[in-house]
Amino acid sequence: MYVVAACDHIEGRARVTDEEWLRPAAHSVPRPRIDASAPNVARVRNYLTGGRDNFDVDRRVARQLVKASPVMEHVGYACRAFLGRVTRYLAGEAGIRQFIDVGTGIPAPGGVHDVAQSAAPSSRVVCVDNDPVVLSHARALLRPAPEGATSYVDASVREPGKITERAREILDFGQPVAIVLNRLLQFVGHDSEVRAILAAMLGEACPGSYLVVVHPASDLDQSLDEAARRWNKVSTAHVVLRGREEITAWFDGLDLVDPGVVPVTEWRPGPPDATHVTPVPVYGAVARKPGEVPAALLRDAANTLIKIRCCPP
Ligand SMILES: C[S@@+](CC[C@H](N)C(=O)[O-])C[C@H]1O[C@@H](n2cnc3c(N)ncnc32)[C@H](O)[C@@H]1O
Repeated sequence: MYVVAACDHIEGRARVTDEEWLRPAAHSVPRPRIDASAPNVARVRNYLTGGRDNFDVDRRVARQLVKASPVMEHVGYACRAFLGRVTRYLAGEAGIRQFIDVGTGIPAPGGVHDVAQSAAPSSRVVCVDNDPVVLSHARALLRPAPEGATSYVDASVREPGKITERAREILDFGQPVAIVLNRLLQFVGHDSEVRAILAAMLGEACPGSYLVVVHPASDLDQSLDEAARRWNKVSTAHVVLRGREEITAWFDGLDLVDPGVVPVTEWRPGPPDATHVTPVPVYGAVARKPGEVPAALLRDAANTLIKIRCCPP
């Protein structure tokens, strides 16, 4: 028996290449999961940052969101600029070489993968998303730097065990890892669930690892409430907005990097971001898991195992 084993997707319809039609049946038959009739988080975000990987329904909804909250037009750019500064900080000053970017989105210049491997080509990056559109683009577009590595994991943030297990295929959890949750936790409604996810992921990470969170605010711009309300009417991926206090509490037990939990444009702004200075109602924060960075084991010239510190504290 032969079945369709793989598909790509054009304007929401599955298209299967000639060789794929006759691939022998596997245990499970992948089904197209792309719905061009309903707005999709990754595609709406893509449209709002100037991308072309979106459908008419995404563009219409995005325009509705901007109508409700005009600042939405700047959110994606400001968050991307924040992520660039943070990733350069992590790959530079903090010496991080391993990244897990959960809720990656459709790849675009300035993403974690791009910045980390530009700043430190040996960086290893795991991209995680539960959207098939994102994963097909990620596989096609993300090429690791020759010295680095990149992998793609199809998982929900609600499956932290699966994420860390798959991430171990290219990352060493005995060395620090940066866990990036950029505009993702607003899709996890319950605070207790967010805390459980963070605890599970940070529990696997060694001291010296970092957590990065970007989250839309409930206490900075009231117009965002209306945008969230409109979004929740048309999408099953409901969002919740949260205040600074609630987000700050997620970092209990971690060392917040200065300036703490602040609107993303206020997190160490620098000259490269000069075009993205419009304040946006989105918080960003970076924190370090306290403790001594584990020593890495290497062989010296006499072939004896020696310990070295791989990253600055
Ligand atoms: C607003 S976009 C943010 C993309 C990117 N991090 C950025 O800030 O530009 C949210 C992303 O999270 C993904 N996402 C939503 N719910 C998710 C879940 N439960 N698990 C993993 N990814 C999820 C969406 O598919 C989308 O790509």
